[in-house]
Amino acid sequence: MSNTHLFSPISIGNNTLRNRIVMPPMCQYSAKASGLVGDYHLTHYGARSLGGVGLVIVEATAIEADGRISFADLGIWSEEQESGLAQLAWSISHHGAVAGIQIAHAGRKAAQGVKRRAAPSALAFSPQYEVPQELTPDEIKCLVSAFAMAAARAVRCGFKVVEIHAAHGYLLHEFLSPLSNMRSDEYGGAMSNRLRFLLEVVASCKEHIPPDVCLSVRLSGSEYSPAGYTLEDIKNVCAVLYGAGIGMIHMSSGGNLPLQPEVWPGYQLPLARMVKNTVPVPIIGVGLLKTPEMAEFALRENYCDLVAVGRALLHDPHWAIKAASSLGAPLPVSESMARGLQR
Ligand SMILES: Cc1cc2nc3c(=O)[nH]c(=O)nc-3n(C[C@H](O)[C@H](O)[C@H](O)COP(=O)(O)O)c2cc1C
Repeated sequence: MSNTHLFSPISIGNNTLRNRIVMPPMCQYSAKASGLVGDYHLTHYGARSLGGVGLVIVEATAIEADGRISFADLGIWSEEQESGLAQLAWSISHHGAVAGIQIAHAGRKAAQGVKRRAAPSALAFSPQYEVPQELTPDEIKCLVSAFAMAAARAVRCGFKVVEIHAAHGYLLHEFLSPLSNMRSDEYGGAMSNRLRFLLEVVASCKEHIPPDVCLSVRLSGSEYSPAGYTLEDIKNVCAVLYGAGIGMIHMSSGGNLPLQPEVWPGYQLPLARMVKNTVPVPIIGVGLLKTPEMAEFALRENYCDLVAVGRALLHDPHWAIKAASSLGAPLPVSESMARGLQR
């Protein structure tokens, strides 16, 4: 048993994570043609699981071809993609982590060259991006179905956490934000209308999510602009999402304006705590939580329930094992590796 917070297990839905360390979704721009999983992904994600992470969330995986951030993104829009994704979920689970996947649509920030650049309104992200097309209500319904099909595929492939990407200025965030949503129909205007698309996505995904799978949502808690939504708005969004049955919230920030906010270790933790005080589901905190001490602090001081470690895990697949060693917790490794390490 561990007396650290970081290495105490936590239940997410019906699954128990061996510790509170999350590998957050990070695009690897390494997919083969048509968004297929390759050897790179099996090794990359398998290594972090073997390295002791509690929950590995696979990178933004596009629900349609035009929803890719780059043409080397993973995809989850066709049957052809399922066997690779199933191998990936198996590889992550086999090495001890719970397997999660982020399902995403890039919206107006999609790759240059997509056939249809979808958005709530015909407003470019920045002068470097093409002006997107405003989605019709019928097109929105099709995308709601595409998210639901993606969730169903993720479940079939063996993922136990399905994270809906509604952060970082991608399609669902664009609808939530008054910076990018200028619509005058039922999907625009008041926050209750701007939230409609995300709520429809949550409801349709829920229909395909069995009790042993957790439906999570990633949100940008702040837009770093007085013209963006407010902290009060985001608290209300979380309360409504909780009412809609989501099982976890991953609290990030920014991405819907071409600006770089000032950052420091733990800069997004106050947003996580705000949501943790609002809804009774596990909250993932993230953002420059690079050291075991910082991750332990975030949990001990009740900012969040899980800690996502991004770039530090890209640098070092064994971050979790080294963190256990430095905090004096039992090493999160297989029995065979533990035997080797004791020699
Ligand atoms: C290379 C890279 C790719 C990323 N791709 C995604 C992504 O696919 N989906 C997402 O929600 N966030 C993505 N992010 C953001 C990370 O999930 C994380 O929030 C961010 O890196 C901050 O955590 P860190 O300071 O521990 O790295 C990416 C970040 C990096 C560095």
